Amino acid sequence: MLQGRGGFIALVLTAALFALPLYLPGQAGANANRFEVYSWWTGPGEGEGLEAMIKHFTTANPDIEFVNAAVSGGAGSNAKAILASRLLANDPPDSYQRHAGLELLDDVRSEKVQDLTDLFEEQGWMTTLPQGLLDNLTIDGKIYAVPVNIHRANLMWYSPATLEELDLAAPPKTWDEFLAQAPGIAATGRTPLALGSAWTQKHLLETVLLGELGPDLYVGLWTGRTSWLSTEVTAALETFKQILRYTDLRSAASDWQPQIDRVIDGTAVYAVMGDWANSYFSLTKQLKWRAEYDVVASPGTEGVFDFLSDAFTLPTGSQHPTLAKKWLVECGSVEGQNLFNPIKGSIPARTDADSGPYKDYLAWNLKQWRDPKTTIVGSLAHGVVANNAWSAEIDTALALFMQDGETGKFATTVAKKYRETR
Ligand code: GAL
Repeated sequence: MLQGRGGFIALVLTAALFALPLYLPGQAGANANRFEVYSWWTGPGEGEGLEAMIKHFTTANPDIEFVNAAVSGGAGSNAKAILASRLLANDPPDSYQRHAGLELLDDVRSEKVQDLTDLFEEQGWMTTLPQGLLDNLTIDGKIYAVPVNIHRANLMWYSPATLEELDLAAPPKTWDEFLAQAPGIAATGRTPLALGSAWTQKHLLETVLLGELGPDLYVGLWTGRTSWLSTEVTAALETFKQILRYTDLRSAASDWQPQIDRVIDGTAVYAVMGDWANSYFSLTKQLKWRAEYDVVASPGTEGVFDFLSDAFTLPTGSQHPTLAKKWLVECGSVEGQNLFNPIKGSIPARTDADSGPYKDYLAWNLKQWRDPKTTIVGSLAHGVVANNAWSAEIDTALALFMQDGETGKFATTVAKKYRETR
C-alpha cells in the first residue's frame, strides 16, 4: 500500500493517466508510418478508383500504412462539412480532397494548406499539366493542390433501349427539344429527367445555364460580366423551371447512384450527371457503352467541356507531411493517374499521359478534352467557378427556388450575394 502524501498523488496521477483516452490526431495517430487521406470516394463507382491507386502506392511503399478516411455522400455533401470541423479544430488529415478552382480559396486564405509550388517544379508538373488547370490551382502566385483527374459535368445519360421503346430517334440536342419530348414521355408514366439530392439539382442548373446561354455568357455569370438580371438569364431560368416540371423533384433520389438507377431500370429516361456515372454504368452495373447505356453532351453544349478536377492538398499541421508528399507524387504521376482514372470515369489531368488505357466513353471524352476546338468552362457545383461563400448562398437560394419557382427572386438574390461575398 502506498504511504503518505507523495504516494497518494502518484496514485491519483497514475489512475488519471489510465482513465484518459490517448490523444489521437485524426485516424492516423502518432504512428510515424501511418498516414490519413481524406476524400468522399466510398460509393460504388467512386471507391474502386481510389482503391486501385492505394494498392499501387502501398505495393511500392510496403512500410507505409494508408488510412483511407473517406466519408460517403456524392460531391462531398457530407465530407466537406466534417472536414470543415476538423480543420477548425486543427486536426487535419494528412491530405484531403478539394476541387481545382475557387473552392480552394478559403483554405489558402486561412492558411489551412501548404504551398506546393516547389513540389510542382521538382516533379515537372508545370509543363505536364494544362495551363488552364494550373491557373485554377494557383492562388496569389502559388500552387496548393495536386490534380489527379479531369471530370466532365455537362453530360446527359440514357438507355438506348428506353428511347427505342418510346420511339424516340435521338436524345435532345437542345432544351427546347427536351421540352418537346417530355410531355410524351410523361404520358407513358416515365420520368423524363431523373434528379437526385440538392447538389445534383445545382449540377442540372449549371448545365441548363450553359446550354441556354452558351459558354461566353455562362463564364460571365461567375465573373460579374453577365448580369443575372439580363433577359437572357431570365429566359434560361424560365427554361430551367419548365424542365423541373418534367423531373422527379418531389421524389428525387437520395444521391447520384440511385438517380442513375432510375435510368437503368427505365423508370426515368434521362439524367444529367458527371462522368463518374460512367464507372457506375460500366463497372458497377456491367453495362456496355453505346449498346446498353449511352451519353451525349447535355442539351445545347455540343463542343463545350464543363470541367472539374479532383485534387489533393498538404494541410498545415499534417502529422506526416513526408508520407503525404509521397501520396501527392502518386496522384500527380502518369502511372497513378492511369490506374485511377479509367476506373473512376475520369481522364488524366496530365497532358503526357498515354491515351491507351482510356476506352469507350473515356476515349470519346479524352479526344474532346484534347481537341483544341473544344471550349472549356468550369463547373459551379464542383468548386471551379464560385467561392465557397457564394456557392453556399446559391445553394440556399436554389433550395428556396425549388419550393417557390420564383426566377426573379432567385436571380436577384444570386446577384446580390455575388457582390456581398466577393
Ligand atoms: C464530384 C467529384 C467527383 C465525384 C462526384 C460525385 O464533386 O469531383 O470525383 O466524386 O463528386 O461524388
